[in-house]
Amino acid sequence: MSPSTDFIPFALPSLGREEEEAVLAVLRSGWLTTGAVALRFEEEFAAFVGTPHALAVNSATSGLHLALEALGVGPGDRVVTSPYTFASTAAVARHLGAEVVFCDVVPGGYNLDTGRLAEVLASTRNVKAVIPVHVGGLPCDMEEILALARRYGCAVVEDAAHAFPSRMAGGFAGTLGDIGVYSFYATKTITTGDGGMVVTSDARLAKRMGTMRMHGIDRPVWDRYTSKTASWSYSVVEAGYKYNLPDLLAAIGREQLKKADRFLAERREIAGIYGAAFRDLPFAEPAPDGPGHAWHLYSLRLKPGTLRAGRDEFVGGLREAGVGTSVHFIPLHTMPYWARRYGLEPESFPEALASFQRTVSLPIWQGMGPERARSVARAVAETGAGLSA
Ligand SMILES: Cc1ncc(COP(=O)(O)O)c(C=O)c1O
Repeated sequence: MSPSTDFIPFALPSLGREEEEAVLAVLRSGWLTTGAVALRFEEEFAAFVGTPHALAVNSATSGLHLALEALGVGPGDRVVTSPYTFASTAAVARHLGAEVVFCDVVPGGYNLDTGRLAEVLASTRNVKAVIPVHVGGLPCDMEEILALARRYGCAVVEDAAHAFPSRMAGGFAGTLGDIGVYSFYATKTITTGDGGMVVTSDARLAKRMGTMRMHGIDRPVWDRYTSKTASWSYSVVEAGYKYNLPDLLAAIGREQLKKADRFLAERREIAGIYGAAFRDLPFAEPAPDGPGHAWHLYSLRLKPGTLRAGRDEFVGGLREAGVGTSVHFIPLHTMPYWARRYGLEPESFPEALASFQRTVSLPIWQGMGPERARSVARAVAETGAGLSA
C-alpha cells in the first residue's frame, strides 16, 4: 500500500503468522478456555514487567473491578480519579457502591494534576483508592501520587490500560502502585482482541483477585476436567465474577509480548517524526512527552484561536487527505451519567475540558512505518495551513 494514495487508519493491530499458528495450536489442542497457555502468559508477562503476581483477565475493565474489590472498596468509600479517561475507570467504583471524586488534569496535558490531587485528598473523607490513568502511555507522576496516597492512607490502582510497556528508572508503569491494570483491547500496543492483565506485588491481593476472577472459587480449577490428580470438588467462598482470559486469546498475547520491545521502538520512531514536524506549527503543538512514554496514543494539541474552523473541520480535512483520527477522551464529567450524579458542569474541570477541546489523536501503530508517519505530518501541516485564520 502506498502511503501517499491510500487511507492511513487511526489504528491497526500487528498480527502475524506467529499469532495465527499459536491460535491454531490452541484450537487443535482440545482446550480452549483458561488453562496452561494463559498460565504461561501470566508468567511471561510477570517476568517482563518484573512483578511477582500477574493475573490474566478478559478486559482491563474487569481488572479494575477486581482491583477495587480486593482493596475492599464498597458503599461509603470514595475513589479519586481523573475525568480524562475511559468509562470503565470510574464505573467500576460505582459497581461496588462507592462514589467517584474527580480531580482535574495538569494544564497542557492529560494526566492527573498532583497539586490538585493533594487538595482533593486534604478535603475529602473516606478515600479508599486513587486511580491515576497513564493517558496515551505517558506515565503519571507516580512518586508524588504514591507519597500523597501514603500520607492520606489510601491505595493506588494504576490504570495502565495504555501504558504497556512504559519502562522507567523505578520500574514499569503499572507495577508502582498497589495494583496495576493493563488492557489488550484491539487498538492497544499489544492485543488479544479483548483482554487484560492485573499485576501486584501483594500476595494477599493477588489471591483475592484470583478467587474473584473465577466465580469466587477457592482454588485454581481450570484443570479439573483433564488433570489425572485434580479433584472434581471445589468450594465457592464468595460471590465471584467470570473474568478469566481464555487460552485462545492468551495464545495471541504470548506472541505479542515477544514483539513488545520492537513495537515500542517503532512507535517511538513515529512519535519522533511527529514531534519534529509539529514543533514549529503555528496552529498546533506536539503531544506532551516524558520518561517512559509508551506512545499508545499520539495526541496533537491544536492551539486555540489559530484556525478559522473547529476541530471537526480539521479532522474532516485530515480524513479527506487520507488520514484517520480519533479523540481521547471526552471527559467523563461531561457525560450525562456523571454530570447528573454529581451536578457537574463542563467547566467543573477546566483543564480536562481544555485538553479535550484541543486534542486530536493521530495514527500511531507498529507496521505503519516512517514514510506513512511523514505523510500524516504533511497532511496535518497542509490541512492546518488551509484552515488557518
Ligand atoms: C484509560 C482506559 N482505562 C480502561 C480501559 C478499559 O479497557 P478494556 O477495554 O480492556 O476493558 C480503557 C479502554 O480503552 C482505557 O482507555
